[in-house]
Amino acid sequence: MNMMLAPRSLPSYLDQSAAVRARFARLKAREVILRVEHLSKAFTTRKGSTLALNDISFETHRREFLCVVGPSGCGKSTLVRILAGLEEHSDGDVLLQGKPVTAPGSDRGMVFQGYTLFPWLTVKKNVMFGLEVNGKGKHEAETQALQWLQLVGLAKFAESYPHQLSGGMKQRVAIVRALANQPRILLMDEPFGALDAQTRARMQAHLLEIWRQIDITIVFITHDLDEAIFLADRILVLSAHPGEVQELIEVPVPHPRSSAQFITPEFLSTKARLEELIHKGTAHGEEEDADTYHMVARLTDVADSVD
Ligand SMILES: Nc1ncnc2c1ncn2[C@@H]1O[C@H](COP(=O)(O)OP(=O)(O)OP(=O)(O)O)[C@@H](O)[C@H]1O
Ligand SMILES: [Mg+2]
Repeated sequence: MNMMLAPRSLPSYLDQSAAVRARFARLKAREVILRVEHLSKAFTTRKGSTLALNDISFETHRREFLCVVGPSGCGKSTLVRILAGLEEHSDGDVLLQGKPVTAPGSDRGMVFQGYTLFPWLTVKKNVMFGLEVNGKGKHEAETQALQWLQLVGLAKFAESYPHQLSGGMKQRVAIVRALANQPRILLMDEPFGALDAQTRARMQAHLLEIWRQIDITIVFITHDLDEAIFLADRILVLSAHPGEVQELIEVPVPHPRSSAQFITPEFLSTKARLEELIHKGTAHGEEEDADTYHMVARLTDVADSVD
């Protein structure tokens, strides 16, 4: 018998070591920071109404790191924009520390994929901006901005302008700028999506380090399953359009996290489960893609085709 071909048996992603189980028990004993109940969102367009999110319910606890994954178009960005108060929802409730979210507020920080720094302000002034808007005096804002920049190793770039920084450095500034106002919750929508693989890995480790040091709850949207497992306490898996909750997975990979864990049985079994759920959720989308490619093939069916 060829042993190489024998299927590798993995433990179930539901199996948790005693330490991981104890950690989840502590996490769930903490106060609920964000509660989403039966949330639905329909967009009305000229063509009619599209249901983007359907009956979404979940909660996150204080200092929890929640990742949200799901196929493209399942409503992840819509969800995070609703949490941010940038988009109205159609039905259900979004409660931040018990209070309904109706508009943006300083209790929520946001980091999205595009660099959202002000290009005409120095790095330090970018971080100071929100602090001053929220009533801090110039001197205090400056002192705090420098402390935050120190935390992410960018103090020596305080007087630089955003265009003088690399993509990873810009996102580090964006993260501390969001954190400087001491929000209860940090909302991140594919924040590392535009970075190269190595920078992205460094940013993930950086973010975990920041998260470990401060009292912040994070909701992090990604379509990268490795990223979700590496970062999250729990992963909310949404199904394809309209987005519905498929499962809320407790990641069985122990803390502290390191890149060496990417090949552990806990990591691989969680990834296998996520792939199973996402694949199930995209079966319909793939049919559409096949049509699209078929059409592209027709459009490119030119005389000098090399096929
Ligand atoms: N302003 C809008 N008006 C109408 N429909 C919208 C609007 N914004 C989003 N939608 C629709 O809602 C659905 C969810 O979009 P959303 O951008 O939230 O998905 P997503 O999961 O973030 O996708 P991706 O992974 O590609 O970023 C899509 O069908 C989209 O077309
Ligand atoms: Mg999106």
